[in-house]
Amino acid sequence: MTAETTTAPAGAAAAGAAATTAAGEVLLRVEEVSKHFGGLVAVDHLSFEVRKGEILGIIGPNGAGKSTILGVISGFYPATAGKVFFQDKDITKLKTHQIVALGIGRQFQTSTLFMSLPVTDNVFYGFHLDYKTAIWKRLLRWPSARREEREFRRRGEEILDRMGLGAVKDEITKNLPHGYQRILGICIALAQEPTLLLLDEPMTGMNETEIDTMLELVRGIRDSGVTIAMIEHNMTAVMSLCDRIVVVDHGQKIAEGLPQQIQDNEQVIEAYLGKDEMLLDE
Ligand SMILES: Nc1ncnc2c1ncn2[C@@H]1O[C@H](COP(=O)(O)OP(=O)(O)OP(=O)(O)O)[C@@H](O)[C@H]1O
Ligand SMILES: [Mg+2]
Repeated sequence: MTAETTTAPAGAAAAGAAATTAAGEVLLRVEEVSKHFGGLVAVDHLSFEVRKGEILGIIGPNGAGKSTILGVISGFYPATAGKVFFQDKDITKLKTHQIVALGIGRQFQTSTLFMSLPVTDNVFYGFHLDYKTAIWKRLLRWPSARREEREFRRRGEEILDRMGLGAVKDEITKNLPHGYQRILGICIALAQEPTLLLLDEPMTGMNETEIDTMLELVRGIRDSGVTIAMIEHNMTAVMSLCDRIVVVDHGQKIAEGLPQQIQDNEQVIEAYLGKDEMLLDE
């Protein structure tokens, strides 16, 4: 049985999903996107939608093309073919910073954090696209530049508080536990006040307690009005968190639907068997 729901009319498709997705308004549309790396087809005519207010899970075996599609959406990789629309605007050829400015945020990997700086500075630099003051005024530390900087620091601290990092804001980033560093990567993305937040395996390497914290935080971000598309290998987390799930294998979509439909989908189970340590009945 296929769990396709993409062609269902708005509203009907979300019946049974979380109330927040009921409107079914499409925020992001990935249309027949392919991405080749030389001869390797990482993403192959992939189409799916992200609806306003939902948490969409993107799952699939290792090497399925999940991170690559997020890279294409966020402008990190040019698409080989196909189009990406955000709020009905064609963003396929836009640069990363233009895509961020439109409202698509991407979680920063721990490898991109400034490890020797305090936590609070990392979030502060997340505001760099927002500066209204001319760069020379900032370099000369003009009052208007200092005011703006204070405002960014205030907003940064607000984000850290909301995400449970308020108590460690003055710590040097490298001294934070791994789980906190992952959360910090999300805080930086939140500094740009995204409408859509893309997360790539936010729970990787986390212990049970950290995963529970992350689940709550992701729900909290969604409840604050941010739509989320999330790649994640932890099936328990995916099943409890996501309103809908898209399954990718060999760069193609093999299923799409509500968590229960995905869990029961034979093609999905087959895609995982022998390929991955993931267990659908975890
Ligand atoms: N920059 C790149 N250059 C060349 N090949 C790449 C590049 N990025 C990814 N690939 C290849 O594209 C395919 C898809 O990779 P991708 O990282 O998107 O998979 P994934 O679904 O995110 O896997 P995982 O679950 O292991 O993170 C893989 O075969 C990978 O080796
Ligand atoms: Mg990946």
